Amino acid sequence: MKEQLAKIRAEALSAMENAQSAAELDGLRVQYLGKKGELTAVLKMMGKLSPEERPAMGQLANEVRAALESAIEEQGKRLEAKALEERLAAEAVDVTIPGKAPKLGHKHPMYLALDELKDIFIGMGFTVLDGPEVELAEYNFDKLNAGEGHPSRDWSDTFYFDKDSRVMLRSQTSPMQVRAMETMELPIRIIAPGRVYRKDEVDATHSPMFHQVEGMVIDKNVTMADLKGTLNTVVEQLYGKGTKTRFRPHHFPFTEPSCEMDVQCHKCGGVGCPTCKGEGWIEMLGAGMIHPKVLKMSGIDPEVWSGWAFGIGLERTAMRRFKIADLRLIFENDVRFLEQF
Ligand code: PHE
Repeated sequence: MKEQLAKIRAEALSAMENAQSAAELDGLRVQYLGKKGELTAVLKMMGKLSPEERPAMGQLANEVRAALESAIEEQGKRLEAKALEERLAAEAVDVTIPGKAPKLGHKHPMYLALDELKDIFIGMGFTVLDGPEVELAEYNFDKLNAGEGHPSRDWSDTFYFDKDSRVMLRSQTSPMQVRAMETMELPIRIIAPGRVYRKDEVDATHSPMFHQVEGMVIDKNVTMADLKGTLNTVVEQLYGKGTKTRFRPHHFPFTEPSCEMDVQCHKCGGVGCPTCKGEGWIEMLGAGMIHPKVLKMSGIDPEVWSGWAFGIGLERTAMRRFKIADLRLIFENDVRFLEQF
Protein backbone atom coordinates (compact mmCIF):
# COMPACT_ATOMS: atom_id res chain seq x y z
CA MET A 1 0.00 0.00 0.00
CA LYS A 2 2.86 2.32 0.76
CA GLU A 3 4.28 1.88 -2.74
CA GLN A 4 0.84 2.38 -4.21
CA LEU A 5 0.49 5.70 -2.39
CA ALA A 6 3.94 6.84 -3.51
CA LYS A 7 3.16 5.91 -7.11
CA ILE A 8 -0.16 7.79 -7.04
CA ARG A 9 1.54 10.80 -5.49
CA ALA A 10 4.32 10.95 -8.09
CA GLU A 11 2.02 10.38 -11.07
CA ALA A 12 -0.66 12.78 -9.89
CA LEU A 13 1.72 15.61 -9.03
CA SER A 14 3.51 15.41 -12.36
CA ALA A 15 0.21 15.30 -14.28
CA MET A 16 -1.15 18.24 -12.29
CA GLU A 17 1.91 20.38 -12.81
CA ASN A 18 1.63 19.83 -16.54
CA ALA A 19 -2.11 20.50 -16.77
CA GLN A 20 -2.71 23.11 -19.50
CA SER A 21 -6.22 24.16 -18.65
CA ALA A 22 -8.67 24.46 -15.78
CA ALA A 23 -10.77 21.71 -17.37
CA GLU A 24 -7.84 19.32 -17.57
CA LEU A 25 -6.94 20.09 -13.95
CA ASP A 26 -10.47 19.41 -12.81
CA GLY A 27 -10.38 16.09 -14.68
CA LEU A 28 -7.28 15.11 -12.69
CA ARG A 29 -8.97 16.11 -9.43
CA VAL A 30 -11.82 13.74 -10.23
CA GLN A 31 -9.41 11.04 -11.40
CA TYR A 32 -7.48 11.00 -8.10
CA LEU A 33 -9.63 12.59 -5.41
CA GLY A 34 -13.16 11.99 -6.71
CA LYS A 35 -15.59 9.43 -5.21
CA LYS A 36 -14.29 6.79 -7.57
CA GLY A 37 -10.79 8.30 -7.68
CA GLU A 38 -7.54 6.34 -7.39
CA LEU A 39 -6.54 7.76 -3.98
CA THR A 40 -10.08 7.31 -2.66
CA ALA A 41 -9.91 3.64 -3.71
CA VAL A 42 -6.73 3.14 -1.69
CA LEU A 43 -8.24 4.89 1.36
CA LYS A 44 -11.21 2.53 1.19
CA MET A 45 -8.85 -0.36 1.63
CA MET A 46 -7.64 1.09 5.01
CA GLY A 47 -10.21 -1.01 6.84
CA LYS A 48 -8.43 -4.20 5.85
CA LEU A 49 -5.20 -3.16 7.56
CA SER A 50 -4.24 -4.34 11.05
CA PRO A 51 -4.76 -1.82 13.88
CA GLU A 52 -0.97 -1.42 14.21
CA GLU A 53 -0.44 -0.54 10.56
CA ARG A 54 -3.46 1.77 10.30
CA PRO A 55 -2.25 5.02 11.97
CA ALA A 56 1.01 5.33 10.00
CA MET A 57 -0.69 4.44 6.72
CA GLY A 58 -3.55 6.82 7.50
CA GLN A 59 -1.15 9.67 8.07
CA LEU A 60 0.69 8.91 4.85
CA ALA A 61 -2.56 8.82 2.90
CA ASN A 62 -3.61 12.16 4.38
CA GLU A 63 -0.29 13.66 3.43
CA VAL A 64 -0.71 12.48 -0.15
CA ARG A 65 -4.23 13.92 -0.27
CA ALA A 66 -2.98 17.25 1.12
CA ALA A 67 -0.12 17.30 -1.41
CA LEU A 68 -2.51 16.67 -4.31
CA GLU A 69 -4.97 19.28 -3.07
CA SER A 70 -2.33 21.96 -2.78
CA ALA A 71 -0.88 21.00 -6.18
CA ILE A 72 -4.35 21.47 -7.70
CA GLU A 73 -4.73 24.83 -6.00
CA GLU A 74 -1.33 26.09 -7.08
CA GLN A 75 -1.63 24.93 -10.68
CA GLY A 76 -5.11 26.46 -10.75
CA LYS A 77 -3.72 29.82 -9.71
CA ARG A 78 -0.92 29.54 -12.26
CA LEU A 79 -3.36 28.77 -15.06
CA GLU A 80 -5.58 31.68 -14.02
CA ALA A 81 -2.65 34.10 -14.04
CA LYS A 82 -1.55 32.82 -17.43
CA ALA A 83 -5.05 33.26 -18.86
CA LEU A 84 -5.24 36.80 -17.52
CA GLU A 85 -1.87 37.65 -19.02
CA GLU A 86 -2.91 36.26 -22.39
CA ARG A 87 -6.13 38.25 -22.29
CA LEU A 88 -4.33 41.47 -21.39
CA ALA A 89 -1.89 40.93 -24.24
CA ALA A 90 -4.71 40.19 -26.69
CA GLU A 91 -6.81 43.15 -25.62
CA ALA A 92 -3.97 45.65 -25.38
CA VAL A 93 -4.78 49.01 -26.98
CA ASP A 94 -1.94 50.94 -28.49
CA VAL A 95 -3.00 54.51 -27.84
CA THR A 96 -0.17 55.82 -29.99
CA ILE A 97 -1.55 54.32 -33.24
CA PRO A 98 -3.04 57.14 -35.37
CA GLY A 99 -6.87 57.03 -35.55
CA LYS A 100 -8.87 56.03 -38.62
CA ALA A 101 -10.42 59.16 -40.10
CA PRO A 102 -14.17 58.57 -40.66
CA LYS A 103 -15.23 59.10 -44.26
CA LEU A 104 -17.33 62.24 -44.27
CA GLY A 105 -20.04 62.84 -46.84
CA HIS A 106 -21.02 66.27 -48.05
CA LYS A 107 -24.01 68.17 -49.33
CA HIS A 108 -25.73 67.11 -52.53
CA PRO A 109 -24.97 69.52 -55.43
CA MET A 110 -28.61 70.55 -55.63
CA TYR A 111 -28.57 71.56 -51.97
CA LEU A 112 -25.28 73.38 -52.51
CA ALA A 113 -27.06 75.43 -55.17
CA LEU A 114 -30.04 75.93 -52.84
CA ASP A 115 -27.74 77.12 -50.05
CA GLU A 116 -26.23 79.68 -52.41
CA LEU A 117 -29.69 80.88 -53.42
CA LYS A 118 -30.82 81.09 -49.80
CA ASP A 119 -27.71 83.07 -48.84
CA ILE A 120 -28.33 85.56 -51.64
CA PHE A 121 -31.99 86.08 -50.69
CA ILE A 122 -31.40 86.15 -46.93
CA GLY A 123 -28.80 88.85 -47.63
CA MET A 124 -31.57 90.88 -49.28
CA GLY A 125 -33.88 90.54 -46.26
CA PHE A 126 -35.98 87.56 -47.37
CA THR A 127 -37.32 84.94 -44.93
CA VAL A 128 -37.14 81.23 -45.87
CA LEU A 129 -40.46 79.35 -45.51
CA ASP A 130 -41.24 75.65 -45.56
CA GLY A 131 -44.62 74.35 -46.67
CA PRO A 132 -46.71 71.19 -47.13
CA GLU A 133 -46.10 68.90 -50.10
CA VAL A 134 -49.57 67.41 -49.70
CA GLU A 135 -51.60 70.48 -50.54
CA LEU A 136 -55.23 71.48 -51.01
CA ALA A 137 -56.26 72.19 -54.59
CA GLU A 138 -57.79 75.33 -53.08
CA TYR A 139 -54.28 76.63 -52.34
CA ASN A 140 -52.51 75.11 -55.33
CA PHE A 141 -55.13 76.38 -57.81
CA ASP A 142 -58.28 78.28 -56.66
CA LYS A 143 -56.62 80.94 -54.53
CA LEU A 144 -54.02 81.38 -57.27
CA ASN A 145 -56.70 82.26 -59.79
CA ALA A 146 -56.64 78.91 -61.59
CA GLY A 147 -60.31 77.97 -61.23
CA GLU A 148 -62.19 74.82 -62.24
CA GLY A 149 -61.40 73.86 -65.81
CA HIS A 150 -57.88 75.27 -65.82
CA PRO A 151 -55.77 72.79 -67.84
CA SER A 152 -53.14 72.28 -65.12
CA ARG A 153 -55.89 70.86 -62.84
CA ASP A 154 -56.34 67.91 -65.16
CA TRP A 155 -55.81 64.39 -63.80
CA SER A 156 -53.29 63.79 -66.59
CA ASP A 157 -51.04 66.50 -65.11
CA THR A 158 -51.59 66.34 -61.34
CA PHE A 159 -51.41 63.65 -58.63
CA TYR A 160 -54.66 63.68 -56.61
CA PHE A 161 -55.44 61.73 -53.45
CA ASP A 162 -59.24 61.79 -53.72
CA LYS A 163 -61.76 61.43 -56.51
CA ASP A 164 -63.08 64.96 -55.86
CA SER A 165 -59.67 66.43 -56.74
CA ARG A 166 -59.43 68.41 -53.49
CA VAL A 167 -56.21 66.98 -52.01
CA MET A 168 -53.09 66.69 -54.14
CA LEU A 169 -49.32 66.65 -54.28
CA ARG A 170 -48.51 70.31 -54.92
CA SER A 171 -47.57 70.92 -58.54
CA GLN A 172 -45.75 74.16 -57.73
CA THR A 173 -44.46 76.05 -54.69
CA SER A 174 -46.83 78.95 -55.47
CA PRO A 175 -49.42 77.87 -52.84
CA MET A 176 -46.81 79.20 -50.40
CA GLN A 177 -47.63 82.68 -51.76
CA VAL A 178 -51.18 82.23 -50.47
CA ARG A 179 -50.10 80.69 -47.17
CA ALA A 180 -47.68 83.59 -46.59
CA MET A 181 -50.27 86.23 -47.51
CA GLU A 182 -52.81 84.64 -45.15
CA THR A 183 -50.51 84.36 -42.15
CA MET A 184 -47.78 87.00 -42.35
CA GLU A 185 -47.78 90.69 -41.58
CA LEU A 186 -47.18 93.06 -44.48
CA PRO A 187 -44.78 93.89 -46.00
CA ILE A 188 -43.69 90.37 -47.00
CA ARG A 189 -40.44 89.10 -48.46
CA ILE A 190 -40.19 85.33 -48.60
CA ILE A 191 -38.69 82.46 -50.50
CA ALA A 192 -40.14 78.93 -50.19
CA PRO A 193 -38.04 76.05 -51.52
CA GLY A 194 -39.42 72.52 -51.78
CA ARG A 195 -40.48 69.47 -53.74
CA VAL A 196 -43.22 69.64 -56.36
CA TYR A 197 -44.91 66.87 -58.35
CA ARG A 198 -46.22 66.60 -61.90
CA LYS A 199 -47.09 63.66 -64.10
CA ASP A 200 -44.02 63.90 -66.31
CA GLU A 201 -42.04 61.01 -67.77
CA VAL A 202 -38.40 60.83 -66.67
CA ASP A 203 -35.88 62.08 -69.24
CA ALA A 204 -32.74 64.26 -69.33
CA THR A 205 -34.69 67.37 -68.31
CA HIS A 206 -37.90 66.02 -66.68
CA SER A 207 -38.85 64.14 -63.52
CA PRO A 208 -42.27 63.59 -61.86
CA MET A 209 -40.73 65.07 -58.71
CA PHE A 210 -38.54 68.12 -58.80
CA HIS A 211 -37.78 71.19 -56.70
CA GLN A 212 -38.80 74.81 -57.02
CA VAL A 213 -37.91 77.89 -55.08
CA GLU A 214 -40.83 80.28 -54.85
CA GLY A 215 -40.17 83.94 -54.12
CA MET A 216 -42.54 86.75 -53.27
CA VAL A 217 -42.41 90.41 -52.29
CA ILE A 218 -45.44 92.47 -51.25
CA ASP A 219 -45.01 96.09 -50.21
CA LYS A 220 -46.17 99.58 -51.14
CA ASN A 221 -45.13 100.92 -54.57
CA VAL A 222 -43.54 97.65 -55.71
CA THR A 223 -43.12 97.52 -59.48
CA MET A 224 -41.83 95.28 -62.27
CA ALA A 225 -38.56 97.26 -62.05
CA ASP A 226 -38.00 95.84 -58.55
CA LEU A 227 -38.62 92.35 -59.89
CA LYS A 228 -36.09 92.78 -62.70
CA GLY A 229 -33.50 94.48 -60.50
CA THR A 230 -33.73 91.81 -57.80
CA LEU A 231 -33.59 88.85 -60.19
CA ASN A 232 -30.69 90.36 -62.16
CA THR A 233 -28.76 90.79 -58.92
CA VAL A 234 -29.46 87.17 -57.96
CA VAL A 235 -28.28 85.88 -61.34
CA GLU A 236 -25.05 87.88 -61.20
CA GLN A 237 -24.32 86.59 -57.71
CA LEU A 238 -25.05 83.02 -58.74
CA TYR A 239 -23.41 82.86 -62.16
CA GLY A 240 -20.92 85.75 -62.04
CA LYS A 241 -20.87 89.49 -62.74
CA GLY A 242 -21.99 90.50 -66.21
CA THR A 243 -24.24 87.43 -66.75
CA LYS A 244 -27.01 88.66 -69.04
CA THR A 245 -30.72 87.96 -68.63
CA ARG A 246 -33.71 88.51 -70.85
CA PHE A 247 -37.39 88.79 -69.93
CA ARG A 248 -40.06 87.41 -72.27
CA PRO A 249 -43.81 87.93 -71.88
CA HIS A 250 -45.61 84.81 -70.65
CA HIS A 251 -48.84 83.78 -68.95
CA PHE A 252 -49.50 82.56 -65.42
CA PRO A 253 -52.98 82.77 -63.91
CA PHE A 254 -51.72 84.33 -60.67
CA THR A 255 -49.50 87.09 -62.09
CA GLU A 256 -50.30 89.98 -64.42
CA PRO A 257 -48.23 90.86 -66.31
CA SER A 258 -46.25 87.61 -66.37
CA CYS A 259 -42.86 86.83 -67.82
CA GLU A 260 -40.22 84.20 -68.14
CA MET A 261 -36.60 85.03 -67.51
CA ASP A 262 -33.80 83.49 -69.58
CA VAL A 263 -30.10 83.51 -68.73
CA GLN A 264 -27.45 83.79 -71.39
CA CYS A 265 -26.04 80.33 -72.12
CA HIS A 266 -22.98 79.63 -69.95
CA LYS A 267 -21.54 77.28 -72.59
CA CYS A 268 -21.54 79.47 -75.69
CA GLY A 269 -22.03 82.93 -74.23
CA GLY A 270 -25.13 83.54 -76.33
CA VAL A 271 -24.00 82.43 -79.79
CA GLY A 272 -26.03 79.24 -79.79
CA CYS A 273 -24.88 75.67 -79.00
CA PRO A 274 -26.35 72.21 -78.22
CA THR A 275 -26.68 73.06 -74.49
CA CYS A 276 -29.04 75.97 -75.23
CA LYS A 277 -30.50 74.19 -78.29
CA GLY A 278 -29.07 76.91 -80.52
CA GLU A 279 -30.98 79.65 -78.70
CA GLY A 280 -28.11 81.34 -76.87
CA TRP A 281 -30.45 81.59 -73.87
CA ILE A 282 -31.66 79.14 -71.24
CA GLU A 283 -35.00 79.51 -69.48
CA MET A 284 -34.53 79.93 -65.74
CA LEU A 285 -37.76 80.98 -64.07
CA GLY A 286 -41.33 82.22 -64.32
CA ALA A 287 -42.34 85.47 -62.66
CA GLY A 288 -44.73 88.38 -62.69
CA MET A 289 -46.66 91.00 -60.76
CA ILE A 290 -49.12 89.32 -58.39
CA HIS A 291 -52.61 89.49 -59.89
CA PRO A 292 -54.87 91.96 -57.99
CA LYS A 293 -57.50 89.19 -57.77
CA VAL A 294 -54.98 86.92 -55.99
CA LEU A 295 -54.14 89.68 -53.49
CA LYS A 296 -57.84 90.31 -52.87
CA MET A 297 -58.63 86.59 -52.35
CA SER A 298 -56.07 86.55 -49.51
CA GLY A 299 -57.48 89.72 -47.96
CA ILE A 300 -54.89 92.22 -49.21
CA ASP A 301 -56.04 95.53 -50.71
CA PRO A 302 -54.53 95.79 -54.23
CA GLU A 303 -55.12 99.56 -54.20
CA VAL A 304 -52.60 99.90 -51.36
CA TRP A 305 -50.25 96.96 -51.81
CA SER A 306 -48.57 95.47 -54.82
CA GLY A 307 -46.08 92.65 -55.25
CA TRP A 308 -44.20 90.29 -57.48
CA ALA A 309 -43.43 86.61 -57.40
CA PHE A 310 -41.21 84.15 -59.17
CA GLY A 311 -40.63 80.40 -59.28
CA ILE A 312 -37.19 78.91 -60.04
CA GLY A 313 -36.57 75.27 -60.95
CA LEU A 314 -33.86 74.20 -58.52
CA GLU A 315 -32.51 71.20 -60.48
CA ARG A 316 -31.97 73.32 -63.56
CA THR A 317 -30.29 76.02 -61.50
CA ALA A 318 -27.92 73.42 -60.04
CA MET A 319 -27.31 71.88 -63.48
CA ARG A 320 -26.27 75.25 -64.83
CA ARG A 321 -24.29 76.15 -61.73
CA PHE A 322 -22.26 72.92 -61.82
CA LYS A 323 -22.48 72.18 -65.56
CA ILE A 324 -24.44 68.93 -65.11
CA ALA A 325 -25.74 67.60 -68.42
CA ASP A 326 -28.50 65.20 -67.32
CA LEU A 327 -31.21 65.77 -64.69
CA ARG A 328 -31.26 62.06 -63.79
CA LEU A 329 -27.75 62.34 -62.29
CA ILE A 330 -29.21 64.58 -59.61
CA PHE A 331 -31.58 61.87 -58.35
CA GLU A 332 -29.62 58.67 -58.99
CA ASN A 333 -27.27 59.33 -56.05
CA ASP A 334 -24.34 57.54 -57.65
CA VAL A 335 -21.42 58.35 -55.32
CA ARG A 336 -19.00 58.48 -58.27
CA PHE A 337 -21.02 61.48 -59.45
CA LEU A 338 -21.70 63.04 -56.04
CA GLU A 339 -18.04 62.83 -54.97
CA GLN A 340 -17.14 65.42 -57.61
CA PHE A 341 -18.72 68.32 -55.72
N1 PHE B 1 -45.47 78.47 -60.38
C1 PHE B 1 -44.98 78.74 -61.71
C2 PHE B 1 -44.59 77.42 -62.39
O1 PHE B 1 -44.54 76.43 -61.72
C3 PHE B 1 -43.77 79.66 -61.67
C4 PHE B 1 -44.13 81.02 -61.16
C5 PHE B 1 -44.01 81.31 -59.81
C6 PHE B 1 -44.56 82.01 -62.02
C7 PHE B 1 -44.33 82.56 -59.34
C8 PHE B 1 -44.88 83.27 -61.56
C9 PHE B 1 -44.75 83.54 -60.22
O2 PHE B 1 -44.36 77.35 -63.56
